[in-house]
Amino acid sequence: MSTVIDRVSGRGYNHRVEMKSEPKPGILFTRQEIETTVRRLAAEISQDYPGKHPLLVGILKGSFMFMADLIRLLDFPLEVEFINLSSYGRGRESSGRVKVVQGLRTQVKGRHVLVIEDIVDTGLTTAFLLDYLRKRKPASLRLCTLTDKPSRRQVPVAIDYLGFTVPDKFIVGYGLDRDEEFRNLPDICTLKDE
Ligand code: IMP
Repeated sequence: MSTVIDRVSGRGYNHRVEMKSEPKPGILFTRQEIETTVRRLAAEISQDYPGKHPLLVGILKGSFMFMADLIRLLDFPLEVEFINLSSYGRGRESSGRVKVVQGLRTQVKGRHVLVIEDIVDTGLTTAFLLDYLRKRKPASLRLCTLTDKPSRRQVPVAIDYLGFTVPDKFIVGYGLDRDEEFRNLPDICTLKDE
């Protein structure tokens, strides 16, 4: 099996790229589109949270880049935490079982908690985390996700702040990986595979 990142000619990513066929445009969202969207989300969040000293909880590892860009645009006091959950084995399919690999070190009780996700796919991971946090009695609990793949949803998830809706394709880049690769791509790309 070869791994090929579809790419727009001229981009020349510095990754292991084996072109077995003609390149097709495969960047789903460019870095400029991502930046515009992160700005929009920051503006929406900024309407709702000043004065609340929210706790932003990012899900590792995929949300780290989004979190870093987002919080630099939020001009009010807040705290950042990360939680490490695992639901995927290697590759694309969710195992359906979510485990807390590393939990929170901050009290959630009474806090305004905003979960920062990279992608909601089946919804299993996010639903698990929202339930996990809700049990800890936050003052409020909301979800911000950069991307949403509604076509694969298995459990309902209410999204309060949404960046992009994506088609049923595996995406990588801007923090999103496949088997730990491709997180460092600055654009969100689809993987051409198999
Ligand atoms: P869910 O539990 O199926 O909603 O998946 C949530 C997690 O699976 C995300 O936080 C990602 O880590 C991973 N994931 C799901 N779809 C993709 C994708 O298209 N690209 C990269 N990671 C994905």
